[in-house]
Amino acid sequence: MEIRQIAERDMDESLKRQVAALQRVAFPNETHFKTKRWVHTLPLPEDPWFHAWEGNDLVGNVWLHHRTVQTIDGPRNVGGIANVCSSPAHRGTGAAKGCMRAAAAYMENSDHIDFGLLFCGETVRHFYASLGWQVAGNRCLARQPDGTVKPVHDGCVAMYYDASAGRLPWPGGDIDLNGPDW
Ligand SMILES: CC(C)(COP(=O)(O)OP(=O)(O)OC[C@H]1O[C@@H](n2cnc3c(N)ncnc32)[C@H](O)[C@@H]1OP(=O)(O)O)[C@@H](O)C(=O)NCCC(=O)NCCS
Repeated sequence: MEIRQIAERDMDESLKRQVAALQRVAFPNETHFKTKRWVHTLPLPEDPWFHAWEGNDLVGNVWLHHRTVQTIDGPRNVGGIANVCSSPAHRGTGAAKGCMRAAAAYMENSDHIDFGLLFCGETVRHFYASLGWQVAGNRCLARQPDGTVKPVHDGCVAMYYDASAGRLPWPGGDIDLNGPDW
């Protein structure tokens, strides 16, 4: 299995179709993925995708969305992790973990990302915990299309990854995502 990184701006139509196809089978109940590759937030040209390949088959996927969020300690640059999935036929072979580890290395080597931040269901919390992610107790506030602000995904768990090597403490209090969630 090979893990590769590619920026949104460098993805061609064929790869975009492969990502969309993987997400449709990995998230069969997620209606967003029937028509597009993201949820709520359009990828930025510089956002990296981390892909696991078995030959010509795309079997794992992680998207990292760059965002500056507002915290009680000031602005923080986060790598918003989203669309984490693997092909049902390749579960348990390290595809998702490989992509998550590549995303963590990207954040640690970046000179501008302070933390990773993701939102997940209770059933996958331990998957992320095994990769060094911690539960964030914060309320994360997302802008809605109508301009109002609402806590992210009621019932979801927010988790963070310290990409600053302890340089910055994870802030308490509310986090304003400065836009929609991802
Ligand atoms: C969750 C998901 C990404 C895991 O992918 P995967 O390819 O099976 O995971 P990997 O093979 O890379 O890693 C397997 C490891 O993760 C662990 N793991 C997998 N799913 C887990 C879960 N739900 N809870 C805890 N650990 C989990 C396995 O026990 C295994 O541990 P080990 O390495 O210590 O043996 C995959 O099941 C999936 O795509 N689910 C549907 C989409 C989804 O829910 N994504 C999460 C969105 S927040």
